[in-house]
Amino acid sequence: MDPRRILLAISGGIAAYKAPELVRTLRRADHVVRCALTPEAERFVSPLSLQAVSGETVRRDLFDAGEEGEIDHIGLADWADLVLVAPATANLLAKMAAGLADDLVSTVLLATRAPILVAPAMNVNMWSHPATQANLAVLRDRGVAVVGPDSGELACGWEGIGRMSDPSVIAVAAAAHGVPPTLIGTRVLVTAGGTAEPIDAVRSVTNRSSGKMGFAIANEAARRGAEVVLVAGVTSLPTPFGVRRVDVRSALEMRAAVLAEFDEASIVIKAAAVADFRPIEVSGRKIKKEELAGGASLTLELVQNPDILQEISARKGDRTIVGFAAESHDVLAAAKRKLSRKGCDLIVANDISRSDAGFDVDENAVLFVWPSGEVEELPLLPKPGVAAQLFDRIEKLREGR
Ligand code: PMT
Repeated sequence: MDPRRILLAISGGIAAYKAPELVRTLRRADHVVRCALTPEAERFVSPLSLQAVSGETVRRDLFDAGEEGEIDHIGLADWADLVLVAPATANLLAKMAAGLADDLVSTVLLATRAPILVAPAMNVNMWSHPATQANLAVLRDRGVAVVGPDSGELACGWEGIGRMSDPSVIAVAAAAHGVPPTLIGTRVLVTAGGTAEPIDAVRSVTNRSSGKMGFAIANEAARRGAEVVLVAGVTSLPTPFGVRRVDVRSALEMRAAVLAEFDEASIVIKAAAVADFRPIEVSGRKIKKEELAGGASLTLELVQNPDILQEISARKGDRTIVGFAAESHDVLAAAKRKLSRKGCDLIVANDISRSDAGFDVDENAVLFVWPSGEVEELPLLPKPGVAAQLFDRIEKLREGR
């Protein structure tokens, strides 16, 4: 993801204690983060800890000559690529809606021309109050984006909606907000993760795919405004913000899910590691070794799974279909063979013999292999970076049609 300059505006709710974790999460994604606090926020989180985790001076007082000398409030409003308000209390939302500017945070929010994302947190009755909902409607009309709040047990003892979203969810929403929505109106279908082919009631044949590559692709598509369906195999990753997820386990389940979503999709990207074979027979019970006489070995007979990519490419229409190729040797030659056999628009080939790329790591080194014979080699990049490069190519391809 592109690093951004994020101004984190913190208002005075109990959820402010999560602000240092939010700063750390944003910085892990390479964003530069500066913090500004309302006077009430300081009761819940210390400016010193925010300074330590952000590595930047923390702003709190509109009339402090020292602070203003370093970067004045208008300079701060102009500096930000994004202003993130977390937590956003009912009071601050009301001030934003009314255009009040009576402290540093509200003044910066009025002065900035950067996109604004708010993460509300408050008591359930304050959240559902017509005044708060009317204020949110005003803010949404002005283009302010909202993430959360979540439901659950609230700090005030009530149960219900009002909990600030998890910092990881807010960080993903922050990365997505304000990115040019080049894929708006486009339905993107992505597959990710490995399949698990059952042997018996407890065992299965699977592979090392973590889902990171496919999830990064789904996230990038959502960032660009697409409507995204993510068919996820075996993975423990959280669903990217704004993505509809369909969980499957086996290749046959993945095929059914892909076919169910295929007609509505304009772009299909198959990053999942689908098992080529599955056991012919699946025992409904756990196979016990005592049942095998005298330590005899167990032979599994495997049958080929349908090739989903090949099947959908055969009825591609005007869709753009991208396949991946996981190769351990002769990467380019094998990828070219796969491209012509499967009939998709592009193959993204990765060398899975490398320990720093491919399966179950955060980075990937890929080749884009085109039907024209053109091959582009990308350097080792974080998987979100590979996803961004991929969509830049897909968008260009579709523009040229
Ligand atoms: O999940 P990660 O840990 O982030 O790892 C990423 C990855 C290495 C899994 C990913 O980058 C990748 O290479 N995915 C494709 C893995 C794979 O199954 O490759 P393949 O060469 O066996 O298959 C070629 C293509 O056909 C793939 O798009 C695959 O989804 C598709 N396929 C394969 C078999 C099958 N029965 N049906 C299919 O649709």
